[in-house]
Amino acid sequence: MRKLMMYAAFAAPLFLASCGGNQKTESTENQAATTDTTAAALPEVTTPAATVSNTVDLTANDQMKYSMNEIHVKAGEKVTLTLKNVGTMPKASMAHNFILLSGGTDKEAFAMKAMVAKTTDYIPAALSKSIMAHTKLLGPGESDTITFTVPAGTYEFICSFPGHYASMNGKLIAE
Ligand code: CU
Repeated sequence: MRKLMMYAAFAAPLFLASCGGNQKTESTENQAATTDTTAAALPEVTTPAATVSNTVDLTANDQMKYSMNEIHVKAGEKVTLTLKNVGTMPKASMAHNFILLSGGTDKEAFAMKAMVAKTTDYIPAALSKSIMAHTKLLGPGESDTITFTVPAGTYEFICSFPGHYASMNGKLIAE
């Protein structure tokens, strides 16, 4: 009995020491890894997160999301925008488009009128003045490329398929 207790007393510090040793090594490694990551990430931070490009590749999915909610382009120069529906759901229940609205357009009011314009693929003919550019309505796997030029400013874009504009919208910023 006494021998066992002595063994325990002897073994415990050993265990602690070896455990502490391991932890120290690990935390040093972690620190090194963290430092490396920070160093590698630095150049990206100095690069503007918003890339200005007049060639825009946008996707839309079954979760009713665009791949970008902010698009930066050069004002006064032709923009080539491609929208691809990367989803798989049937077109009747999940189709997408990209409608670039003129400045000052009420997005909600536009969407309300667009959702009943089924015969024209949810592009309301009566509101053509509010539309600067738009793609076709796309079913799964379909894509459409459009070109347009906009003056400097911030414009809203939406998907006008019924119920989509609330989660499928964004800003196109021309500078
Ligand atoms: Cu949509």
